Amino acid sequence: MHVQICIIGAGPAGLMLARLLHLAGVSSVVLESRARAYVETRVRAGLLEQGSVDLMAATGMDERLRREAMVHDGTEYIAGGQLFHVDMWDLIQRRIYIYGQQEVVKDMIAANLAAGVPVIFEAEARKVGGLDTEKPFVEYAHNGAETTVTCDFIAGCDGFHGVSRAALPDAVRRDYARDYPFGWLGILADAAPTLPELIYCQNEERGFALFTMRSPKISRCYLQVAPDESEDNWSDDRIWTELALRLGDHEGVTLSTGAITQKSVTPMRSFVSEPMRHGRLFIAGDAAHIVPPTGAKGMNLAISDVYVLSRAMTEFYKTGATARFDAYTETCLRRVWGAQHFSWWMTSMMHNLPGENAFDRKRQLAELRTVLGSRAGQTLLAENYAGLPMEM
Ligand code: APR
Ligand code: PHB
Repeated sequence: MHVQICIIGAGPAGLMLARLLHLAGVSSVVLESRARAYVETRVRAGLLEQGSVDLMAATGMDERLRREAMVHDGTEYIAGGQLFHVDMWDLIQRRIYIYGQQEVVKDMIAANLAAGVPVIFEAEARKVGGLDTEKPFVEYAHNGAETTVTCDFIAGCDGFHGVSRAALPDAVRRDYARDYPFGWLGILADAAPTLPELIYCQNEERGFALFTMRSPKISRCYLQVAPDESEDNWSDDRIWTELALRLGDHEGVTLSTGAITQKSVTPMRSFVSEPMRHGRLFIAGDAAHIVPPTGAKGMNLAISDVYVLSRAMTEFYKTGATARFDAYTETCLRRVWGAQHFSWWMTSMMHNLPGENAFDRKRQLAELRTVLGSRAGQTLLAENYAGLPMEM
């Protein structure tokens, strides 16, 4: 098989890239190691920036999103026992949307398959090669057979544990990483959202909690826990008691509870690998970088990377120009590092760090009050939260 672009991975990065290329008349195949049902039900974060929603609309993939996504003009924060409202719409005239990542993935798969773009499930890429030649290739296993795809370019959209990043030679690659000494226990529950907006909650004694949602009837909540914590230690009662304690008492805020239908612990990590290109291999999304989930930048960064990559590829096929390929790493990393800083900042401002002393706690609270108590501070928060420009 020969295609112009071989895309590894059917997450938001790979699927958005396939769609953008198809609309520009460039052929691709998407290889996905997992089954379709698995990727369509994998529970992940679910916050889309305005720019990501605009791109879903521009690529004709927003029909269900427009009906089902929950639109948020503002966000609530609790710090030092005080409730703050950040009105994003008033401050910056932008908003965010809550729509589960697996719903985004379902819509993207449907759009690609309907357009005849091949998305091959249970097809695991084992090897990429020929990166320094004009005819790179990907070897993959499918239905018990090994197959080779040749192509003009490879897009490694295969997430943090994929094979693409490892194909960048050690001599050119540099990794930057930070692990956090805590994780998030995430739950889905048959419970209406506690408030119409998301609530980011810093509790000095007990740690961070986040109250978000998936629909008017489904809550998604997160609790800061130890990084090696097992969800098995958390009974439903323990979870609701802890969420109530971290939320605290506020007028007009009553914790909404219900049956818990899913729970799992996620580790927190910041990671960037550069460059994001070697010869004819380009890496995008989680394959190149990871953010801690505070602020939910992961899916949005995956989408902005492939937006930049699709423009480079489209221009190459139209005019033969390669300047955008040469600028790919630098263009993406400006936005990636902006989001890295924001995710780290939100994470360190909102969580209790093991080992911090009384001074650190007071300083942290003062920082939150400085940011949330000032229009300038809130504007900075809102600009980053609603998303930096797609191409910076
Ligand atoms: N061959 C084929 N597919 C692979 C391989 C491989 N060798 N290795 C991994 N994959 C697939 C995974 O099964 C997954 O479906 O690549 C896909 C990568 O998708 P994501 O992990 O969703 O990554 P990305 O598209 O970059 O989106 C980033 O996902 O992890 C979240 O929080 C993250 O929201 C962010 C988003
Ligand atoms: C989510 O809805 O899953 C979510 C929202 C905001 C975050 C993280 C996760 O910061």
